[in-house]
Amino acid sequence: MTSPAPAPPAAAAAQSPPPRIGLAGLATMGQNLALNIAEKGFPATIDALSPYLDAGDAIVDGGNEWYQNTERRIEQAASRGILYLGMGVSGGEEGARNGPSLMPGGDFQAYSNIKDILEKAAAQTEDGPCVTFVGPGGAGNFVKMVHNGIEYGDMQLIAEAYDVLHRVGGLSNSEIADVFAEWNKGELESFLVEITADIFTVADPLEGSTSGALVDKILDKTGMKGTGKWTVQQAAELAVAAPTIAASLDGRYLSGLKDERVAAASVLEEEGMPVGLLEKINVDKKVLVDRVRQALYSSKVCSYAQGMNLLRAKSVEQGWNLNLAELSRIWKGGCIIRARFLDRIKKAYDRNPELANLIVDREFAREMVQRQGAWRWVVARAVEAGISTPGMSASLSYFDTYRCNRLPANLIQAQRDLFGAHTYERIDRPGSFHTEWTKLAREGK
Ligand code: 6PG
Repeated sequence: MTSPAPAPPAAAAAQSPPPRIGLAGLATMGQNLALNIAEKGFPATIDALSPYLDAGDAIVDGGNEWYQNTERRIEQAASRGILYLGMGVSGGEEGARNGPSLMPGGDFQAYSNIKDILEKAAAQTEDGPCVTFVGPGGAGNFVKMVHNGIEYGDMQLIAEAYDVLHRVGGLSNSEIADVFAEWNKGELESFLVEITADIFTVADPLEGSTSGALVDKILDKTGMKGTGKWTVQQAAELAVAAPTIAASLDGRYLSGLKDERVAAASVLEEEGMPVGLLEKINVDKKVLVDRVRQALYSSKVCSYAQGMNLLRAKSVEQGWNLNLAELSRIWKGGCIIRARFLDRIKKAYDRNPELANLIVDREFAREMVQRQGAWRWVVARAVEAGISTPGMSASLSYFDTYRCNRLPANLIQAQRDLFGAHTYERIDRPGSFHTEWTKLAREGK
């Protein structure tokens, strides 16, 4: 609950000011966010939360909420004179405590009332605090949802890079830790790459320091809470291609079928499928590491392009007027997908807010062209070796499809017209056409 900053009575000026914000329903991140706000000098009155709200007070929902629930609640709250904000909060436990990225959307007055608190509690970058008023309605929740979809994509791509380094290059866990730590000094610098380097250095605490890395003991089944699924559903609703994010979601579903996968491996082995790599790839480790780095970077660019285009499409549909440069800015710090290259994504949208796709920003276009050879090499070798790289492959196909000025969609249109009289357009004259394909084909024989 929040309310506008009251003018302190003169007599009370020396005492602590009355609370302006209270937090309720606190799970891990909520508890830390409460501590973070309290530490910045704003009382957080968890226990003393009044069950009653006065007109002009505001409710802020900081959970991973479905955006339409927020829109419904905005209306309910408004009917009682209450303001409402749906605020995406990213950063995990540590971010909530020390500075998350905040994505508030809904009632602008509610945002204005607590802007100073949010700006202090948010992560700080050289480009300002990682908070901005995202837009009206459920815009804040929607932006957080897409953030999480991008997060799924990043995690899948990093996992694939690890798999290729380990299975093709034979890199040990400590070598992989070093590789990610090194990558974190360059264009791939990001929270997820940084924590990945750390993960590979942790020994199994239950078995002792000589027993190997804990990561090897973790069951290969990925959990999820649902925001990635919403992202893919929304991409389909809005007819925005998001194949990398979809591949990461499918990857999680397939990982969940552990028993079926084990059984499938055994059936196929009995039918003659070789165990292990289908091809031995002879490549110098350093060369492999460098190529995988380039493949990971290029794949990430495609994934972010998909997320940004989803945000743009929703913004147009809802009239939210989302500012993609500003959203990139507030993702530069605090959040799970924070990364060095978000500054460059911000600059790309500053240069051209109407940019059709990140891939065609000149800077990114140049990088993609420079890296595409290494990217293709990694995906091709993974395919030959029988290593599944759905995220990198989906990104590469996205790139190759998007840059293609003549797709085989003409044939699909012909098929649709043949069996369903769905008509087609021609390249040489306007209008829509239907052809009696079967009759003409029979006559021609
Ligand atoms: C964040 C995280 C946070 C949460 C994810 C996990 O931005 O701080 O995204 O919101 O950890 O929702 O999502 P899954 O459980 O679906 O992987």
